[in-house]
Amino acid sequence: MANKDEDRLLEHEYDGIREYDNPLPRWWLWIFYATIVFVPLYYVLPGRLGQNGGNVAEYEAEVAAYKATQPVAPPTISGERLLALSKDREALEEGREVFTKNCVVCHGVDGGGVIGPNLTDNAWIHGGTPSAIHNTVIVGVLAKGMPSWERLLKTEDLDHVVAYVISLQGTKPATPKAPEGVVDTVAAAPPADK
Ligand code: HEC
Repeated sequence: MANKDEDRLLEHEYDGIREYDNPLPRWWLWIFYATIVFVPLYYVLPGRLGQNGGNVAEYEAEVAAYKATQPVAPPTISGERLLALSKDREALEEGREVFTKNCVVCHGVDGGGVIGPNLTDNAWIHGGTPSAIHNTVIVGVLAKGMPSWERLLKTEDLDHVVAYVISLQGTKPATPKAPEGVVDTVAAAPPADK
């Protein structure tokens, strides 16, 4: 035994340390070769290995399930129309009335935010596109104290108040609340051309 090991000592010596030239155990090598055989599968089917289509299918199913739990109002008005309304003086006047009656308690007279977030900056928790704002106002965020206005306001008033909120973009409230959410500038309506 000792002799056999002696035979396999390598030539070199570093700081008095010598090493054996023992072959790797066969079982270890077979596992190693097996992983090499397996690896091309990951190139061909990244993320798709596993039961029922693997991670990708699992992720997509989870996203779909999550989306199904999120309320989305049927779009009753297009984003373009809302943007147009946000430049229409009459619509804005009506929107301001609705806002003053229903929204200022939480969002402030000038939209600067009280309990509710600042509506004049370009940061949005629930999206800043006209359609996203419309959706937030309709379905509300009940868990956070933002009522659902679908049943409380007439369709027209809803459209006008959303147009009014869009028109608040970039205005300077007296005591603005710090931005919340992520920047979404789509509601920043281009300057009115009339
Ligand atoms: C009782 C308080 C309350 C009232 C009244 C209220 N809101 Fe809100 N609103 C909130 C709160 C709180 C949030 C923040 C929800 C969150 O954190 O997810 C919010 C969020 C919003 C958002 C989304 C802001 C974002 O960053 O995505 C919009 C738009 C909005 N409100 C518009 C309105 C309009 C228009 C009215 C009036 C018709 C109104 N709110 C009335 C409390 C209120």
